[in-house]
Amino acid sequence: MRVLALGDVSGRCGVACVEKFLRGVKAELSADAVVVNAENAALFGVTPQQANALLDAGADVLTLGNHAFKQKTITDFLDASDRIVRPANFAPSVPGRGVTYLPTSSGQLAVINLIGRCDMSFIPDNPFTVIDQLLCEVSQRTKFIVVDFHAEATSEKLAMAYHLDGRVSAIWGTHTHVQTADERVFPNGTGYISDLGMVGARESVIGVRAQDSVSYFLGDMMTRFQSADGPACFCGALFDLDDETGKCVSVERVRYDET
Ligand SMILES: [Fe+2]
Ligand SMILES: [Fe+2]
Repeated sequence: MRVLALGDVSGRCGVACVEKFLRGVKAELSADAVVVNAENAALFGVTPQQANALLDAGADVLTLGNHAFKQKTITDFLDASDRIVRPANFAPSVPGRGVTYLPTSSGQLAVINLIGRCDMSFIPDNPFTVIDQLLCEVSQRTKFIVVDFHAEATSEKLAMAYHLDGRVSAIWGTHTHVQTADERVFPNGTGYISDLGMVGARESVIGVRAQDSVSYFLGDMMTRFQSADGPACFCGALFDLDDETGKCVSVERVRYDET
């Protein structure tokens, strides 16, 4: 099974880029399943319309992160759809689910979303203990398990990869919007990359207009972040999983630049 994962889709430029390129890339890479981080489709959060646009464009499962609930209209969608997950270590009372199962020709693919605790503006449950509990149930159902770990610190992401090595097929990082070059297969067969990067405006600061970000860091308290325009970059990674064992055979970084 080949799983294509895309980093945070950022703003209208990112959504348009997915609509334009995902079907072609999915076919070119022979991906059986596509998992897309959608927490920034509205720059802050995602609306049901944007979630449907990404699913219609070829995404199979959407993942989220710290901006999951910024658009209030998404809450009913999170409860109703099994094609979108929010971090499993949010409080159990919040809408939506932290794991979902996607049928594929090779079997069910479990997609889990987790969020880290380093440099987040709130304190979720411990992702290391939550995933241990969750895997008791998930690993009974399928050997194909992937995790989007939405986190800031590479140390937390790497520690999670060692924690999960051999117990999940792949774990990738999202949230920084900057693609890392450390993709590899861990010793016990778990595929990994610290961050997938983003799908969004190349000339931007993580999807935001550069001038807005510079003003903010100069101390302008009135700055309002706006989504930057294209051309876009399209970033992610392709994980090739062994159909017999569910273990990862190879990880390939993916990046296309719109001209
Ligand atoms: Fe993000
Ligand atoms: Fe984030």
